[in-house]
Amino acid sequence: MVNGQTRRQIGLRPGGDRRYAHVIGWGIEIPERVLTNHDIEKLVETSDEWIRERTGIAERRIADDRDTTVTLGTRAARKALAHANVLPSSIDLIIVATSSPIHLFPATACLIQDRLGAENAGAFDVLAACSGFIFALGLAAAQIKAGMIDRALVIGTETLSRIVDWTDRSTCILFADGAGAFVLSASEVPGGIQHVVMHSDGSGAEMLWAPSGVRPTWNGSPSPQVLTQMNGREVFRFATRVMVTATEEVIRKAGLTVDSIDVVIPHQANLRIIQAAARGLNLPLERFFINIERYGNTSTASIPIAVAEAAAAGKIKPNDKVVLVGFGGGLTWGAILMEWDVQPTPVSYGREVLREGWYILARIRSLLRRLIRFLEAILRGSPTAAVVRDEERVQRSSRR
Ligand code: ACO
Repeated sequence: MVNGQTRRQIGLRPGGDRRYAHVIGWGIEIPERVLTNHDIEKLVETSDEWIRERTGIAERRIADDRDTTVTLGTRAARKALAHANVLPSSIDLIIVATSSPIHLFPATACLIQDRLGAENAGAFDVLAACSGFIFALGLAAAQIKAGMIDRALVIGTETLSRIVDWTDRSTCILFADGAGAFVLSASEVPGGIQHVVMHSDGSGAEMLWAPSGVRPTWNGSPSPQVLTQMNGREVFRFATRVMVTATEEVIRKAGLTVDSIDVVIPHQANLRIIQAAARGLNLPLERFFINIERYGNTSTASIPIAVAEAAAAGKIKPNDKVVLVGFGGGLTWGAILMEWDVQPTPVSYGREVLREGWYILARIRSLLRRLIRFLEAILRGSPTAAVVRDEERVQRSSRR
């Protein structure tokens, strides 16, 4: 939990009864390398015209060879913390949504927590494919509203280009890399994240999946390669249905009508899916924010990237009612209704310098901890050996 001083900064009275979860800052990380449809024409039998017409994608971004979900997510998180003008030490919880973690464990969130020096934060990952950011945001907001925590960092980060089969034209045209992060904070001011719906249907698991490589080997078959496999037509049918039902459900929960929604930020998977959702909801397409043309499907990063771009372009304004809606492998789908009331945080140069210094110290601290563990291991031997030695000592003394 944050201390009394932070509590005052974010306008919470100790013991105040109604709590709301507000987005107070965001940041995105877009890799520089651009892969156009024409570039993909050189890899598989396809055409720029086909990809644009069937998906709405013109180009996507691919992470640099040295980048990972951790480095992209860390950079997005640092920008979000700067935007919110808060220090990493004030964060109580970090949730990372990702479909392309570098390890099965430890969680990507722990690695980012270490790099940020967010020493007071618990950190874990959410695996709900492209719905992951919605699920993670819903969880973090619920923790804040329940009074369990005061501040959270929610990150969607992907290097999907590493788990895409670059010989499969039905998937390699879609997926891409990027990251986005939100800082959430408790407040007594009404608004922020208000309603959440989350759904899953594991019977559709085979419609969109990537094996982890962890498989029984009793039949001698080699572990499958970690590559994304998809039944595009089935996912398309499912997506056009749930984008509508999830949006309607979250609006109903809030006691509002579809018409009262100012902006819908959909998961950017396919322009035709978004168009079908607009038709299904009977909302003009202009109320949907769309940037798929430039980024493709960045899975958990697509919604935070779209929110950040919509806010920067003035497409989301204070007091707007905004729906975030997504779907993905699992199958999973969900939506969030929020009132957009982000007030620009006054930039403090001093705090900026402090934050930069903090990140340097976080790296040093992490290296020192590793060094200390290494030296301890040399000096004391293995912990298991120490426990055995201890037990032998106890047994000897009890025999006497
Ligand atoms: N270039 C040219 N032709 C292609 C390509 C391509 N890149 N890909 C497929 N085709 C061909 C197919 O082989 C097929 O040929 P055939 O008729 O001779 O068999 C033809 O085009 C039509 O194929 P469809 O699969 O019916 O094409 P469709 O219009 O459905 O578009 C697409 C395919 C783009 C994959 C679409 O189904 C789609 O977007 N589905 C949803 C996928 C999605 O959103 N996934 C992400 C979910 S979120 C997450 O969790 C990661």
